[in-house]
Amino acid sequence: MTYHFDERLPRRGTYSEKWDLGRELFGDPDVLPLWVADMDFRCAPAIVQAVTERAKHGIYGYTSRPKEYLDAITGWMERRHEWKVDASWLTDTPGVVPALGVAVQILTEPGDRVILQSPVYNPFYDVIRNNGREIAENPLILEDGRYRMDYDHLESLMQGGAKLMLLCSPHNPGGRVWTREELELLGELCLKYEVKVVSDEIHGDLVFKEHRHVPFASLSEAHAGITITCAAPSKTFNIPGLSTAYTLISNGAIRKSFAERIKTLAIGSLNYFGPSATIAAYTQSEDWLDAVLDYIRGNRDFAISYLAEHLPAATPILPEGTYLLWVDYRALGWSKTQIKQVMYKEAKVAFTEGSVYGRDGEGFLRINLACPHSLLQEALERFCSAVKAHHV
Ligand SMILES: Cc1ncc(COP(=O)(O)O)c(C=O)c1O
Repeated sequence: MTYHFDERLPRRGTYSEKWDLGRELFGDPDVLPLWVADMDFRCAPAIVQAVTERAKHGIYGYTSRPKEYLDAITGWMERRHEWKVDASWLTDTPGVVPALGVAVQILTEPGDRVILQSPVYNPFYDVIRNNGREIAENPLILEDGRYRMDYDHLESLMQGGAKLMLLCSPHNPGGRVWTREELELLGELCLKYEVKVVSDEIHGDLVFKEHRHVPFASLSEAHAGITITCAAPSKTFNIPGLSTAYTLISNGAIRKSFAERIKTLAIGSLNYFGPSATIAAYTQSEDWLDAVLDYIRGNRDFAISYLAEHLPAATPILPEGTYLLWVDYRALGWSKTQIKQVMYKEAKVAFTEGSVYGRDGEGFLRINLACPHSLLQEALERFCSAVKAHHV
């Protein structure tokens, strides 16, 4: 089937966080937004149809958890990720971030140290701090244009008593798809020091062809036994507004405690559209996903060569997965205030300024590549011209 990813669909005036908050967030309603991670593509036809059918019914009542929904998830994990999961491992959550928060609460006590690898998706900091836990930072090492984990420092944090690791796999930002060997090394340390793992795999399906996402819990039964895997069809199929996500936990005691906390917080009820959209996504939309990944790859390669030609002081990191391009602009020697001024006020584009992802993100920008090619080109042209105007 052919998809029209080049089409620029109007999103202003649709209560879109990305398109309708320009004035509040950047001081200009017309800023071109390439920041928050949703896609500017219409989702797969089977999903649109499933949601439309549900909407047409007209009674939007409490929603049950059909067997087809569970089968769709277990089937997807096996087919796409060679991971055999049991339907009983599943707990529904209204999002991956809420699941991260609940996981931190049940796996640690106030004051405990929780490891994250910076720079990282900002809610990782929030779910640790806002729950009264301490951040144990293991900065990623950027070497030859690629991030890697610092295992020595990681081990010292574990020796120092850290109880839990929040793993972002694939990693946002930076786009690393951790290899089996890297995850095995990490797992060895976690098993040795009895550190539990919360593996955020929301980007797990968004991986370019030469790479392979390995679910951390699929490494072995022992790894699965210490892990809460957080996943969702939301990022993959562009349905984050449907608030439908899930965790997979093979360890019965952890699962029980997780499910009990979800119940206590009363956040376990399913979105009316969630199961239908998930079933359509996981059982009828694989060709859309493959097509969108090819399109995003084209955008990725275009952006990298455009920046090399027009703004060589900005160095993009080649993403192996995700639809996010992480760009190192430190060679410009600009502060974050300067780059924001140029982005929002002069170029009128909104990429995400990197310090949002922690101190180690300062001097970087994150560009959302999941948009029509012409929009990406326009944003890059505006940005590069505005920067060049200061560098003549
Ligand atoms: C690593 C990561 N986790 C979680 C989320 C969001 O999850 P949710 O909207 O399901 O809470 C994102 C969104 O960008 C993300 O990048």
